[in-house]
Amino acid sequence: MDQLIIEGGSPLYGTVAISGAKNAALPLIAATLLAPGSHTLHNVPDLRDTRTMLNLLEILGARWQRQGQTVQINSDHLTGVEAPYDLVKTMRASVLVLGPLLARTGFARVSLPGGCAIGARPINFHLKGFEQLGVTTRLEHGYVEAAVEGRMRGGTVYFDIPSVTGTENVLMASVMARGDTVIKNAAKEPEVGNLIDMLVAMGAEIEGKDTDRLVVHGVDRLHATESTIIPDRIETGTYMIAVAAAGGTVTLTDCTPAHLPALTEKLLLCGVNIETEATSLTVSCPEIDGRSICRPCSVDITTLPYPGFPTDLQAQFMALMVLGNGTAIIHETIFENRFMHVAELKRMGADITIEGSRAVVRGIGRDKLCGAPVMATDLRASASLVIAGLAAGGTTRISRIYHLERGYENMVEKLQRLGARVGKVREESARAGADVRA
Ligand code: EPZ
Repeated sequence: MDQLIIEGGSPLYGTVAISGAKNAALPLIAATLLAPGSHTLHNVPDLRDTRTMLNLLEILGARWQRQGQTVQINSDHLTGVEAPYDLVKTMRASVLVLGPLLARTGFARVSLPGGCAIGARPINFHLKGFEQLGVTTRLEHGYVEAAVEGRMRGGTVYFDIPSVTGTENVLMASVMARGDTVIKNAAKEPEVGNLIDMLVAMGAEIEGKDTDRLVVHGVDRLHATESTIIPDRIETGTYMIAVAAAGGTVTLTDCTPAHLPALTEKLLLCGVNIETEATSLTVSCPEIDGRSICRPCSVDITTLPYPGFPTDLQAQFMALMVLGNGTAIIHETIFENRFMHVAELKRMGADITIEGSRAVVRGIGRDKLCGAPVMATDLRASASLVIAGLAAGGTTRISRIYHLERGYENMVEKLQRLGARVGKVREESARAGADVRA
């Protein structure tokens, strides 16, 4: 397995282009199952997770090819309706094929995703939503089987929690139902809006985009179309936090600053400078003694559904608060076990206490954060360790970086372009003490 080796302490300078959003690409790829024909998706990031979703579509009978950031998908002939355990266990978002398969074929058999590092992550809201549309579901041998006689009927779906993929799955199931479907307490994340735009371009009739109440007027059929994935707001936020932690001045292009209202406010409170344009932003740290290394103010955060502070940026922000000038309370309200990065940050000298769903982070300042061998446990926890490694003195070795490669396109190259001393090595050569090749 590969390791990431970081020689910390170098501020970041330069410009980086943000990739397409993983959490928009996954539902939009799944949505191509809704209509036969050749679909075109632009700005599709080449990630472990997008490759997994495309491989799942291939198992179901679709054909795809990638040219750069554009993916062509032909779903004329679906030959299967089952998402196997071996694939679903590697990526929970595989459940997103349930809705389109039900709408297209009336049947789907998908392995239950099982839990993951950050929580149990059930799909009960998805299944309850389908049942409101006339679908019968049953669980057996670790698989969920969903079926509907003939065409789904419109219904009313209320989400106890505004589930992002739950909203996306029910949307895709309902677009060809007979009659109207109302989705209440729907998720409002920009990725849901990206999916709605694609479905409407395919011929769906959907009202209420970007609100928590969606109304879908069922249509008889949809057609293939051409869509573009929105920029990845979580990747954008990750690099913003990295600059705040490591220091320097970085411009991020091909991004949507308006999708990061909560993080922007919190970073401004930390003392970071942020200048935004429509599709780019520049993050910088004030110069202190001629060095652009700021000591961020300690700021509390609470993770919430959009437009609140994103849970997917919680671990990264915690790494920044380790450098804070006081004590920060980080309240994780979305997932029950999303503090796996705490133990690893503490190996680097961080002073963090977990009290239920809150982490109390006592800032130790930069000179007490030191590089260490650490292990990535999940996608965003691994990003947190990268940020800590960039700010810490000395060498940080991060193992199990396949987690990182699920959701960050070309992260090593992007960081190297910004002057970071970071490299990827094979575990065995890392043991032999290979140095970072900047
Ligand atoms: C999406 O996951 C994202 N993934 C996650 O990003 C993100 O953290 C999450 O939304 C919250 O914003 C994709 O879009 C592919 P939820 P999702 O359903 O849809 C509970 C990343 O790092 N729940 O909004 O699975 C659930 O356990 C990933 O890129 C149920 O109880 O999240 C959680 O506590 C991680 N039953 C809460 O709701 C259900 O049926 C919100 O989950 C569904 C969810």
